[in-house]
Amino acid sequence: MRFFVTLEGPEGGGKSTQAQRLTDHLKNRGQDVLFTREPGGTEIGDQIRRIIMSLENKSMSPEAEFLLFSASRAQVVRELIRPHLERGGVVVCDRFYDSSLAYQGFGHELDLALLQTITGFVTGGLVPDLTLLLDLTSELGLERRKQDGRWNRLDDYDLAFHERVRAGYLQLADAEPERWVRIDAAQTEDEIQSQIRAAVDLRITS
Ligand code: TYD
Repeated sequence: MRFFVTLEGPEGGGKSTQAQRLTDHLKNRGQDVLFTREPGGTEIGDQIRRIIMSLENKSMSPEAEFLLFSASRAQVVRELIRPHLERGGVVVCDRFYDSSLAYQGFGHELDLALLQTITGFVTGGLVPDLTLLLDLTSELGLERRKQDGRWNRLDDYDLAFHERVRAGYLQLADAEPERWVRIDAAQTEDEIQSQIRAAVDLRITS
């Protein structure tokens, strides 16, 4: 079945593990599933990802950051996501344009309406059918991230930035309640996964 689901939320919510487990679950249910992530997912996207994430690029402007994320997104939409959906498959994506609205829009306080306009061009108007918000406090998220040793340039922004990101996500979810499902990411990995499956299974009939 053609279905596009994205996972969103602040750092440390366990999105990548959950996205992988969701992909396995859907494959077990007989769905043709493509798993991908942002930034990255394609060879060009992975090259862009290295520039964005490098702790050597501390002088990167928020505008450049947004456009690099967008470039990676434009590529993964056309190379992987849209073709798979057009074949009638399911796509699970670890972060999508809502990350840019939350991090670059709310976090860096760039003009949200402008980012949304550019995003429409970048994605060709593609909107997820379901977006799962793995929500947790910035303190807990950053604490978890420190422990997993994957600290990157964006994690280095101050706590106020990360708090704006979290508040931004909650605002985005409130604005489109039919697309978003909020899940408390302070729960155990298994509890989170079972809520994710419940939300997805409700919408995918096979
Ligand atoms: P990643 O290591 O994939 O983190 P996570 O496991 O938290 O998803 O790093 C992605 C980082 O990039 C993360 O800090 C969120 C940020 N980001 C943006 O700021 N804007 C975007 O559009 C995207 C896709 C990610």
